[in-house]
Amino acid sequence: SESGCLSIVVLGASGDLAKKKTFPALFHLFQQGFLQSGEVHIFGYARSNLSDDGLRERIRGYLKGASDEHVSQFLQLIKYVSGSYDSGEGFESLNNAISEYETSKTNESGSSRRLFYLALPPSVYPSVSKMIRSYCMNPFVASIHVVLSASRTGWSRVIVEKPFGKDLDSAEELSSQLGELFDEHQLYRIDHYLGKELVQNLLVLRFANRLFLPLWNRDNIDNVQIVFREDFGTEGRGGYFDQYGIIRDIIQNHLLQVFCLVAMEKPVSLKPEHIRDEKVKVLQSVSPIKYDEVVIGQYEGYKDDPTVPDDSNTPTFASVVLRVHNERWEGVPFILKAGKALSSRKAEIRVQFKDAPGDIFRCKKQGRNEFVIRLQPSEAMYMKLTVKKPGLEMATEQSELDLSYGLRYQDVKIPEAYERLILDTIRGDQQHFVRRDELKAAWEIFTPLLHDIDAGKLKSIPYKPGTRGPSEADEMSTRMGYVQTHGYIWIPPT
Ligand code: BG6
Repeated sequence: SESGCLSIVVLGASGDLAKKKTFPALFHLFQQGFLQSGEVHIFGYARSNLSDDGLRERIRGYLKGASDEHVSQFLQLIKYVSGSYDSGEGFESLNNAISEYETSKTNESGSSRRLFYLALPPSVYPSVSKMIRSYCMNPFVASIHVVLSASRTGWSRVIVEKPFGKDLDSAEELSSQLGELFDEHQLYRIDHYLGKELVQNLLVLRFANRLFLPLWNRDNIDNVQIVFREDFGTEGRGGYFDQYGIIRDIIQNHLLQVFCLVAMEKPVSLKPEHIRDEKVKVLQSVSPIKYDEVVIGQYEGYKDDPTVPDDSNTPTFASVVLRVHNERWEGVPFILKAGKALSSRKAEIRVQFKDAPGDIFRCKKQGRNEFVIRLQPSEAMYMKLTVKKPGLEMATEQSELDLSYGLRYQDVKIPEAYERLILDTIRGDQQHFVRRDELKAAWEIFTPLLHDIDAGKLKSIPYKPGTRGPSEADEMSTRMGYVQTHGYIWIPPT
């Protein structure tokens, strides 16, 4: 049943992720009427000794673009429970608080819906999950297979955040631990890139447009780049970051998910299982990574962070070529590139087509057809075309067929990734979440490389902050066939 009261429990409520992402996302859902006062309660849980108001005031500063009244109404939905992450006591009081709320709202036929959001460091996942399982699950539905009360139902669902382990073995261990406590249908492994508007558009673009269907393969596509850049460094997260590095932080999850949607075959239907089946298949078709198709780098100044060891080899930049061993993609390099402290902040997919054969215009040097999907900032997609330069001469130039969202969808507010994914969880839609076998396949691709980087067998090349990263990465892209074209951005008139 989708009615009845809803309890959203944010574990790690006083942490960074909760303040910056989880609570603001909940607030936006509230603003749009998805979380109605009277039907939802939000419980913050953490170790700090705080009052309800103490937590509310901490969150207030992060809720922007709304009237004070609206913010206050939202904050009134929040209660705080303090307790440790590994003792039964705290979780018992959490459960009491939830049950008290449910009893005050639920009649005999009502249901209990409990959503647990783990905004926590990975070290406490196993213990917190055990505590939730032992003390806090919906009392009427032990698991999706075991319903304890015919008249009162509902669900318990758990959202977990990366990192899901550090390599294949540790990820599998975590998966088994969680798998003993929850059914796969109760587990929502979040990858917030799957909540981004233009990532969600990939499926539609590829499979609803006749134009792309015959072109999307090795006969027409020369190379694909999936790029993430940030113009700031690790900023106080050095200690965490140094244990993971850019491949685990961005490439193995966010960029790999995007890769799946670009490269996978058409799913049988839009059912979450059908889509995730295709993702697993394409991941399993990726050949072992060749080390002469990898460039890693580290920005100068990264080790100034006192929590980063002086001899750290952890990459803050990486460019890795994936090769898909199947009929559609044999021979097409997919270059996955990510870096911190670069010259700009941007995430985009660049699908570069082969040159038109028999060039009578001698226009080749101006560039080639390229389809660019910019995820952020300023969502857009554009297709680079060669056109006649307007005027009396028969000359050609490169131009764009442009769909800039800021121009075409001026009145639409594009939802935040977290907002959409939390709503999906409440609705029970797992399409945009990572399934266990998908996660395993993702780790299988990167684990050998990561182990060798950790062992110092590949060295990070130093690069200056505010640049494009090591020049070796651009050289590798050129070697892969990528022809540098000019970036393009529609600037709104002022
Ligand atoms: C997170 C990474 O998953 O994604 C961060 O841990 C990174 O290092 C962030 O900054 C980027 O997300 P977005 O949505 O700003 O591109």
